[in-house]
Amino acid sequence: MSRTRVTPSLVSVTNCHYAGHIMGKLKLGPDIELPLREAIGQCVAILGIRGSGKSNTAGVIFEELLAARYPLSIIDTDGEYFGLKEKYEVLVVGEGENVDIELNPDSAAGVAEVSLREGLPVVVDVSGMLSEDRDEFVLEYLSRLWELAGKLRKPYMIGIEECHEFIPQGVRTELKETVARIALRGRKRGLGTVVISQRSAKVEKDVLTQAGMLFLHRVVHEADMRVYGELLPWRKAEVKEEVAALGVGECIFMADQTVKKAKVRLRDTFHGGFTPAFEPVETPKLRQVRGEILAAIQRAGARVEPDAWDPAPGQQRSAHTRCAVKEAPMRTRQETVAPSRAKAQDAPADVPADSGPTSTAPQSWQRGHPEQDAEVEDVLPDEVLRQANRLMRRLWRRPIHERRMLAFLASREPRAYTTAELAAWTDCAEAVLLGEPPTELVELGLVHRERLARGYTYRIRLRPYVNEVFAPFQSELGPEGLHRLVGYLREELMDLGNSV
Ligand SMILES: Nc1ncnc2c1ncn2[C@@H]1O[C@H](COP(=O)(O)OP(=O)(O)OP(=O)(O)O)[C@@H](O)[C@H]1O
Ligand SMILES: [Mg+2]
Repeated sequence: MSRTRVTPSLVSVTNCHYAGHIMGKLKLGPDIELPLREAIGQCVAILGIRGSGKSNTAGVIFEELLAARYPLSIIDTDGEYFGLKEKYEVLVVGEGENVDIELNPDSAAGVAEVSLREGLPVVVDVSGMLSEDRDEFVLEYLSRLWELAGKLRKPYMIGIEECHEFIPQGVRTELKETVARIALRGRKRGLGTVVISQRSAKVEKDVLTQAGMLFLHRVVHEADMRVYGELLPWRKAEVKEEVAALGVGECIFMADQTVKKAKVRLRDTFHGGFTPAFEPVETPKLRQVRGEILAAIQRAGARVEPDAWDPAPGQQRSAHTRCAVKEAPMRTRQETVAPSRAKAQDAPADVPADSGPTSTAPQSWQRGHPEQDAEVEDVLPDEVLRQANRLMRRLWRRPIHERRMLAFLASREPRAYTTAELAAWTDCAEAVLLGEPPTELVELGLVHRERLARGYTYRIRLRPYVNEVFAPFQSELGPEGLHRLVGYLREELMDLGNSV
């Protein structure tokens, strides 16, 4: 498998809070010190079996970033990261035992926007959400970060626990596309990712092979060992021997030209996912989230929908309101371990994992159109971009023959093609194009179809479509804006054909 080298970031750091720290180092352990600038736009993967020290390693990275005032969000599936508040001003939102503000998916985009604009570190605790709500929340949150990062281009890190649940190998979902897109193409927008998983073989391979920095903790299962074998530049037997010998908190660290065994330090702040001991330990009092942080969420206005809002920090709110502030609770360490989690930690070693079918993640994400994206996203109004991206997400869900057809027609607008011609150009069987016609695209108004004696002709109608769908923004966009929007969508449509 080929690996990309760590390339310098295109993102400016001069106007960031931490510009003064940019020469600083992330001190992750006695043998691992990284220049902070290497974190910008970096894709970091932390893998290993249950209990091997992944969350601790991630926690140490987040502590070091927070100490350097580097903004971040953590998608926290187990409610483990609220302890960062012991030392740093971090807002914990979502649904879980230790959240400051309870939020539902409607408010996710608003909080993401505040976090990126204001540089507010946020822990998105999704541990208490049902899986559908959780996925919707994360999708809304990350989609907003992606869109806005295209405009702001500020360094920002996104941590994702249990990432195999969001970027599973061999499965296509809108959420997966969003997460993989950030991991693979986020660098140009300043977005870095820290993806964490105990199921190496279940994580989308493209993301792992493109990760610029790896922390490979202990694994035992053959399928996971195979993944390590593909990631590490060592002989298989050597990989097995070295990895099997790793203790808790130890890992094979790999970045750029470096590959070495290293021990990560223990987190300074309370680790909500610690392995329970017999003696209960008092949790130190957590710092209250600053009033300004809460006020910034309030400033997100309608999108956050703070029904029961009162700007004074630390006041108890009803848990039933859509956006409720809770006091940071005091509890013992043992109490913080959810029963299901405690049980899981008692389970023996690792769960068997197998590798899924070949990836279907679009290769075009790695290519991108940075110059064009930058211009367009500076010019187009937020709501227009949001709608355009929503359309693209919808189109990415169409079957591959429709996507190839769209990509081809977009590149040849305004010419019409017969199904036979399209079959030849797009390398799809004509029977598929005839048997599964792109009716939804026709109904959407994006494609025009004419019936022939045998089959159809198709042509794209991008400009009329934009005129119709974006009519409410016509005066705001003007002819120049409409032209750019058409150009932007055409480029995006042409990418649709590039997935495997
Ligand atoms: N670097 C380290 N030094 C010492 N102890 C560590 C280190 N890393 C982790 N531990 C200890 O190992 C236990 C498990 O660590 P952690 O929760 O990070 O594992 P994990 O791999 O994230 O597990 P899970 O898959 O269950 O989430 C914790 O109790 C933690 O204190
Ligand atoms: Mg963990």
